[in-house]
Amino acid sequence: MPVLEVDAATSGYGQMEVVRDLSLRVDEGEIISIIGPNGAGKSTAMKLVFGLLKPWRGSVRFLGEDVGGLAPDKLVRRGMAYVPQVANVFTTLTVEENLEMGAFTLTGPLGERKRRVYELFPRLHERRRQRAGQMSGGERQMVAMGRALMLDPKLLMLDEPSAGLAPLLVDMIFEKIEEVNAAGISVLMVEQNARKSLELAHRGYVLAAGRNELDGPGSVLLDDPKVARLYLGG
Ligand SMILES: Nc1ncnc2c1ncn2[C@@H]1O[C@H](COP(=O)(O)OP(=O)(O)OP(=O)(O)O)[C@@H](O)[C@H]1O
Ligand SMILES: [Mg+2]
Repeated sequence: MPVLEVDAATSGYGQMEVVRDLSLRVDEGEIISIIGPNGAGKSTAMKLVFGLLKPWRGSVRFLGEDVGGLAPDKLVRRGMAYVPQVANVFTTLTVEENLEMGAFTLTGPLGERKRRVYELFPRLHERRRQRAGQMSGGERQMVAMGRALMLDPKLLMLDEPSAGLAPLLVDMIFEKIEEVNAAGISVLMVEQNARKSLELAHRGYVLAAGRNELDGPGSVLLDDPKVARLYLGG
């Protein structure tokens, strides 16, 4: 059974259709990368999966159940975690408070979960009493991922996790994504950094104008002349 299955889903804002007949699948243990030009509807597709938009047609299934239009907090309880493209940390709260907010649906001690996040991101442990708003871009991205991981999700969705980061930090974030995945969490990510994300991903999807354009193993897409020409810079 796939972790996530979007079947011919259409959605958008107001009257405007943005995602059309979109189909994608995340199997257990996979890292899936979505690439495509600016405005293609990548973030909209993520919002649709996370219940911020309802499918007008088609379906979204998570862990075998139809979840189309189910609210984000319900999806979080079922094991879906989402790190949006912007505004993904509480800037006035400390690092540790951000992590605690990530586990808002849980009762009981959070120590063990925090310990695991700090093990993945030792930097966050050093900075745990600092306000997230005072941290660097790379550190904030770690806070955002750490917060999402506090609920021990089945599926982690990341919208442009490497955006605006220096190359070394991009590599660091990608390594962390690999570590998270190695711990058994499936990952669905949207990336500008097409080449690196396809190298990391088991499979990729190319979106253009809200539709599936191409999909396949990361290595196959990397070798595809059309992908190279349009998205990899030559
Ligand atoms: N909240 C919104 N209300 C109305 N239109 C929106 C909204 N968010 C996005 N759009 C429109 O939907 C289209 C797709 O936007 P989306 O953010 O999904 O693209 P994207 O592929 O994530 O682009 P980028 O690579 O720039 O992040 C764009 O035309 C955008 O203007
Ligand atoms: Mg986007």
